[in-house]
Amino acid sequence: MCGIVGFVGKKQAAPVLLDGLSKLEYRGYDSAGLAVRNGEDEPVIVKAKGRLKDLAEKTDEGKAVFGGCGIGHTRWATHGEPSENNAHPHCSDDMNVVGVHNGIIENYQELKEKLQHHDYTFYSQTDTEVAIKLIDYYYKKYQVGPIDAIAKTMVRVRGSYAIAVMFKDYPGQIYVARKDSPMVIGIKDGQTYMASDVPAILKYTNQIYYIGNLEMARLDEGKVTFFNLDGDEVEKELVTIDWDAEAAEKGGYEHFMMKEIHEQPKVLEDTINSVVKKSGKSLEVDLTEIGITEEELKNVSDIVIAACGSAYHTGMVDQYVIEDLAKVPVRVELASEFRYRKPLLNPNTLVIVVSQSGETADTLAALREAKSRGNKVLAIVNVVGSSIAREADYVFQTLAGPEISVATTKAYSCQLVAGYILAIALAKAKGQLDEKKENELLTEMRSLPAKIEKILDEKERLQWFASKFSNVHDVFYIGRGIDYAICLEGSLKLKEISYIHSEAYAAGELKHGTISLIEDGTLVIGVLTQSGLFEKTVSNMVEVKSRGAYLCGVTSYGNYSLEDTADFSIYVPKTDEHFAASLAVIPLQLIGYYISVSRGLDVDKPRNLAKSVTVE
Ligand code: AGP
Repeated sequence: MCGIVGFVGKKQAAPVLLDGLSKLEYRGYDSAGLAVRNGEDEPVIVKAKGRLKDLAEKTDEGKAVFGGCGIGHTRWATHGEPSENNAHPHCSDDMNVVGVHNGIIENYQELKEKLQHHDYTFYSQTDTEVAIKLIDYYYKKYQVGPIDAIAKTMVRVRGSYAIAVMFKDYPGQIYVARKDSPMVIGIKDGQTYMASDVPAILKYTNQIYYIGNLEMARLDEGKVTFFNLDGDEVEKELVTIDWDAEAAEKGGYEHFMMKEIHEQPKVLEDTINSVVKKSGKSLEVDLTEIGITEEELKNVSDIVIAACGSAYHTGMVDQYVIEDLAKVPVRVELASEFRYRKPLLNPNTLVIVVSQSGETADTLAALREAKSRGNKVLAIVNVVGSSIAREADYVFQTLAGPEISVATTKAYSCQLVAGYILAIALAKAKGQLDEKKENELLTEMRSLPAKIEKILDEKERLQWFASKFSNVHDVFYIGRGIDYAICLEGSLKLKEISYIHSEAYAAGELKHGTISLIEDGTLVIGVLTQSGLFEKTVSNMVEVKSRGAYLCGVTSYGNYSLEDTADFSIYVPKTDEHFAASLAVIPLQLIGYYISVSRGLDVDKPRNLAKSVTVE
């Protein structure tokens, strides 16, 4: 949600903070601020409502604020409207403690009242101001050092946080703490960097520490010291990140989303090759990296998949693919529901959580719920070292690289192939698939990247189509089986970046109520990649056409009879039908992208959204 950055070193901090925040702006973006300290001087705080460029202008690209120690923040409002007053950093009245925070302090009202009894007053509506003043309160009341004051605060607050603070009495130092909210710390050449996400500091260093949950750290020039909640020092391993800084840049594309759409063939190939290996003349799934054994897969009685948004949509595809190939029952749950509905799990239920960021609060909570019941959890996750990656029993690491656009494309595609691979491994372990069929499926899967390239080569036709429909009010996506799961993703892609109302419907369900919304010119996009369901979906398309709908159909090359019904037909290469989502979703991503562009919207940073949803 919000993004935080910190720096201690010989360079000027403000330009580093602004640069880091620019890489995090996709996380939240209604206001921004920074606090920089020059030696023993009081920190200078500058805040601006709106985009980061407003803060950059206000500080002359950081040149107007002197000092080598500072913290910065981009905000996605939770408590209190987007305004300069509510923007971070926040401070105690005497500037004793100045800090930035990502996350939510759930009991902030109660803590605010407590502090008010001790004569504290509040200038903002934020929970963060309360947290900062609580640190100040403990620091003064118990006359302890920063680590003890922060630890006392951590025990008292409920919720999630990644927090970075500077204390008046400790120049040249930043103190940080985290619970259920991401934070990384990097060092290089005598300089220390901190951020809520790796891309913010990747330009400066790929030597990263992951601070653990409920831990704290003190950042000095070129040095980091970690502490547990008791204030004891703890050792951490320095990890080398092999994403390069260029992967987090636009690389000549107008938007990150378009760049990431074009990266799909490459990242799919990388993800497939990481676990699909040659064995003699055949291909097979090698589970070593994931950490699960064939024996463990054999003992799985059923599967529950918990995820949010697009990751949930990949779970919907997995449900069809796993049940069909492995004959193992699969239930797909929205992670936000799973955590509260006391789900029934068998001792041998394998819970799969899917997450690009590895920090989605609801998905993390679902993982913890499953583990607390004694169930094993397998995570399909993209961000190395994320909370979900660290807490799961088994990890299928997707190799999408950093995904910056809020609307996911390449991470979604990698999650899909991870699901196919797990389905194949499970089917084999369950004796439902022989080596010949395994080899055939994996060989076909390896042809997906080239087939995606072919779809991308023909994107101009989709641009033309999108420009015709940039002003529609409602769009319906209909399909059956796997095609319905593809529709869910196509519809989300459109609405999140174009702000056009759209819904995905199981094609056969439309006539049970929603068909009353169809009127002259309503755009209906049918997805028809499953041969056994083709005629059925065509019939549902005819039903809406006779009520005035304009029909677009997405199907495989060869199914040319679609043109008898659809007004506009889109063809994708043929593949094994279990893998159809990987191809049919590409034109739907492109349609969403082009419509957003033709409406003049901010494709990569759509309103109200954040890349990583670390609050409930
Ligand atoms: C999709 O474009 C969205 N950005 C969103 O639905 C996303 O997939 C969801 O919030 C889950 O995020 P995660 O994969 O990081 O857990």
